[in-house]
Amino acid sequence: MKRILKITLILLSSLILLAVILGFLGYNYFNSTFLSFEDDYVEHVQPKKLTLDGYTFLDRNGNGELDVYEDDRRATKERVADVLSQMTLEEKIHLLKGSGLASAMGAVEPGEGIPGAVGTIVPTPRLGLPTVYLSDGPAGLRIEPKREGEERTYYCTAFPIATLLASTWNEELVQEVGSAMGNEALEYGIDVILGPGANIHRHPLCGRNFEYYSEDPVLSGYMGAAIVNGIESNGVGTSVKHFVANNQETERNFNDVIITDRALREIYLKGFEIIVEKAQPWTLMSSYNKINGTYTSEDKQLLTDILRDEWGFEGLVMTDWFGGKDAAAQIKAGNDLLEPGTKKQWKALTEAHENGALPTADIDRSAARILHLVFQTKKMQDYKYENNPDLKAHANITRQSATEGIVLLKNENALPIQIDGTVALLGVTSYEFIAGGTGSGDVNEAYTISLEEGLKNAGFKINSKAKELFEIHKAANEEAFVKPEGIDAMFNPYNPPQLNLTKEELDEIVATSDVGILTIGRNAGEGGDRVEEDDFLLTDLEQEMIESTSKAFQESGKKLVVVLNIGGVIETASWKDKPDAIVLAWQGGQEGGNSVADILSGQVNPSGKLPMTFPVHLHDHASHSDFPLQGGHLSFFGLLKGLMFPPEERPQDEKVQNRDYTHYDEGIYVGYRHFDKAKLSVSYPFGYGLSYTNFEYSDLSTTVENDTLKIAFAVKNIGQVQGKEVVQCYTEKLNPMIDRPIRELKAFAKTTSLQPEAIDSLSMVIPLKDLRYWDEDKGNWALEKGAYKIKIGASSRAMKLEAEIEL
Ligand code: BGC
Repeated sequence: MKRILKITLILLSSLILLAVILGFLGYNYFNSTFLSFEDDYVEHVQPKKLTLDGYTFLDRNGNGELDVYEDDRRATKERVADVLSQMTLEEKIHLLKGSGLASAMGAVEPGEGIPGAVGTIVPTPRLGLPTVYLSDGPAGLRIEPKREGEERTYYCTAFPIATLLASTWNEELVQEVGSAMGNEALEYGIDVILGPGANIHRHPLCGRNFEYYSEDPVLSGYMGAAIVNGIESNGVGTSVKHFVANNQETERNFNDVIITDRALREIYLKGFEIIVEKAQPWTLMSSYNKINGTYTSEDKQLLTDILRDEWGFEGLVMTDWFGGKDAAAQIKAGNDLLEPGTKKQWKALTEAHENGALPTADIDRSAARILHLVFQTKKMQDYKYENNPDLKAHANITRQSATEGIVLLKNENALPIQIDGTVALLGVTSYEFIAGGTGSGDVNEAYTISLEEGLKNAGFKINSKAKELFEIHKAANEEAFVKPEGIDAMFNPYNPPQLNLTKEELDEIVATSDVGILTIGRNAGEGGDRVEEDDFLLTDLEQEMIESTSKAFQESGKKLVVVLNIGGVIETASWKDKPDAIVLAWQGGQEGGNSVADILSGQVNPSGKLPMTFPVHLHDHASHSDFPLQGGHLSFFGLLKGLMFPPEERPQDEKVQNRDYTHYDEGIYVGYRHFDKAKLSVSYPFGYGLSYTNFEYSDLSTTVENDTLKIAFAVKNIGQVQGKEVVQCYTEKLNPMIDRPIRELKAFAKTTSLQPEAIDSLSMVIPLKDLRYWDEDKGNWALEKGAYKIKIGASSRAMKLEAEIEL
């Protein structure tokens, strides 16, 4: 008996010991791979002020002398060269990686770091260089709203999602949004916003499409440049992401994009190229995926030859979080900063240098780029942030921009609605309005105005029966109505169950209201792609509700309006003939409900237009057969499995198509380029959107001068109410020698708000180089000679004026 007890005890203690050892090893692996807690959060010791020959400077290294790098009258380049010459090799290598996730994970002591800031550039205290903080983006600043031991809050403004901003087609307005967002960053001590996202909507099911602008690279590029210019006007940087071809969330960390140079150049790189040209952002973020076998963060051709040598990018490139594999290869390729940074990478860089694989020149080059950014920050100019941005002013800007990005898809004498009426709100999202998507693009805002609140604020009466039924439904499904917070929201996007009304309930609602509004909501985000069933397609219940509510209101001589509170494209063709009006509200940030009320009430005339096509069927997209269709979210174990057994280390026949690798066989035929070429009907075309007024286009003139095409025309408001019009310019090569799209967007403009009868004269300047295509054989851009059609359209399928030029 005693023996058995002894053996059991030995076995038990061995098991416990084994568990402890495994736990320790696991923790260490996890810590060094993911968290890398470091003691880098040495708050910047305030350097002493010194006056020398009448000039006051900050004595950063405390040597009592004015060093070149401390002299802010000198050019940044000189200052960087000086500080670099004073740094040890260890300090330089240290600078190439951030200090881990401690701040983002709340693992810093109260008062240290900026809780929620997801990355850093490490400080060099010996030389008085401060910690630089990086924070997500792109729909507003993402920091923790509460801090341990503090009463006050640190809420940020939830601005509209990027897709909505693109729907405004208004660069000036988007720049204003950027300027407000950048100001918030500055005032909360954040130096770089991790955004905007400039990836292309290759397929509607990409879970992060809401963070991106459009299926078209020109629109993406101009919108991205506008927001970068706005943010950076504050002395705060941006990180334009995810460079490049990160178009699916499924296996995003390892997916290999198999793509031609032409598609890469004309579609996926183009938007980034425009942003670099028009805004020269402080940083770019390389993407997780590989391109034709190489991780983008290790791709020298991409990060150095194209980005810097061809495009003239002057900033730094950082990795996406834990992106890529080989730290030394990343630095050598021109990916200067590894985020969030791990001890493992630090060690790898040091070893690579010691064994000659990573030359000092490469370390110096990347360190210099990082230092250049540090010197650009307001922190380096000793800016004292007060944690007190003007959130009220920013709320006004978010409301105005969200209103302008709303797209009126259909209106059969239903809108605007008279304010003295009673509105019945149907659909749970009317009461639980969705401000934006989930994941790193989610913002911790103080409030979200629901559609109900927005309509009430505008003076509408809300039908009490519909509201009462919603409250009963919510109480009965209490758990499903609890909004997941933080990381949980990323894995379980908030999608509360829809409410099913009986015929009697609906009849009572119709009898006691003047108009019905049915809201359809969708929520998606980082880490997962959407699916067709019950997401792109409406659920059976939603279809049923559109049918029954439209019928019930229409039979009583009343109107039914559908409001789409969504972040990405859904199916509309099968039901759009039923309601009287359809308003595409997108996800408009924290003032969303007020913005929709501005449109429904006619306070603002809608002027948004679609930045992508709404197809009849999902499979109409040329990319459909090469897109992962099973959705699902990134899991911790999935990530771990991928890290331990990456696809590149598996034989080809064990790799899974559309997960481990994705063929971009559709080439350049993304969005309308495909629908037009294949002559497919669409539900709503790219560039489409209605107004409460009508416009007339006239007087087109085109001239070709000094390698530019100049276009001028007039737009007149011929309706009854004031309004703005988005005008698009497409070009078509007639009798092309190569395969080309029927039309491609080259420029766009928006009129001022025109009174009835008022005319706006618009002009566009298109460099002739924008008419080129990528010649695969020559590996270069080429301009075809001959005739081109210039088409001025109200959408990609509604051309109003046309001219021909000969090159
Ligand atoms: C996302 C980036 C984000 C980063 C930091 C990554 O998972 O892909 O867009 O900026 O995390 O939160």
